[in-house]
Amino acid sequence: MNPTEPWIPYENLNLLNKSFEEEFKQKFDSFLAKGWYVLGEEVTNFETNFAKFCGAKYCLGVANGLDALILGLKAFDFPEGSEVLVPSNTYIATILAIINAGHKPILIEPNMDDYTIDPDLLIKAITPKTKAIMVVHLYGLIAQMDKIVSIAKQYNLEIIEDCAQAHGAQLNGVKVGTFGKIGAFSFYPTKNLGALGDAGAITTSDEALYLKLKALRNYGSEKKYFNKYVGLNSRLDELQAAFLNIKLNHLDDFTNHKIRLAQYYNDHLTNKVIKPKFYDNGQHVYHIYNIRTNYRDELKHFLFENGIHTEIHYPVSPNQQKGYSLYFKDIECPISEEIHNTTLSLPISFANSLNDVKQVTEMINQFFLNAL
Ligand SMILES: Cc1ncc(COP(=O)(O)O)c(C=O)c1O
Repeated sequence: MNPTEPWIPYENLNLLNKSFEEEFKQKFDSFLAKGWYVLGEEVTNFETNFAKFCGAKYCLGVANGLDALILGLKAFDFPEGSEVLVPSNTYIATILAIINAGHKPILIEPNMDDYTIDPDLLIKAITPKTKAIMVVHLYGLIAQMDKIVSIAKQYNLEIIEDCAQAHGAQLNGVKVGTFGKIGAFSFYPTKNLGALGDAGAITTSDEALYLKLKALRNYGSEKKYFNKYVGLNSRLDELQAAFLNIKLNHLDDFTNHKIRLAQYYNDHLTNKVIKPKFYDNGQHVYHIYNIRTNYRDELKHFLFENGIHTEIHYPVSPNQQKGYSLYFKDIECPISEEIHNTTLSLPISFANSLNDVKQVTEMINQFFLNAL
């Protein structure tokens, strides 16, 4: 690679956040002047704004996406050891949340064509101990919610949506975070809506759950020093809420930019790679644009040598993660494992230009033309 050529990064948070620098600084100054550090006006405003954005009645800011999932589960008070159905190909947080809440994750394989949980397999896995389906809108694509909602109704199961990768994704005008009683969001800095540190939120339209969660995120306390529940300390940081309030105004622009980049990839990448389906109706917000190929490792190396950074989401299937061997002993997930072995995520950040994406596309097409 020519070292004078700029690298195309997978993500460039510095550049992404640069355009908000002045607004961030002003927010920080007023935060400092106010001197109210925890659960203040910024958190309340963000909760109102984000609930409105999602079309939910309520939103509660919490410390991160993992806590949003744990708290969401805890709010239901399922009996200990209840079974929760979860896709076998998700970021580990979804599964960890179930374990941390005292329940048993039951891995369900995804559809190979969209990588979200396979509704047909859900039904087969339901037992008398099953209490909930934890849906993940993986990579930014909404799961098959029409089918999942009807299964949940039929079998009297709760739906908890992991929306960490899919802020604003929608099906027929209904946004993620509102299909079940609980939606869990992460605002980790690289997410479509990212804070400048850890942050998360829960959406719900159920008033009783909202009130309970409001206490649960704050030591289970409704009134200072009176603890109605055994909760967590998981409050959205006031300063992060202030930054999120600024960036939320631009979330649709971030998403539209990513959709445009995804469209370019879909239209111009060689058919020798498996591409995601392209949606321009909001079903997919392209948090991650992944392709699949049996030459994944060679391609990743070739791109790296040519100054292009890629990522793998994720390299190891949860059932094969060392730390989880106790939970998934003898459990095989061939579809998930196949995805993990062949997937490659291409640059698709708001900080990436169309020109970046054209170069990435050209290099990938060249790889398949020359090397194979
Ligand atoms: C699908 C999914 N669920 C949950 C999380 C957890 O979010 P956080 O890192 O904010 O705890 C993430 C974050 O990477 C995620 O991608």
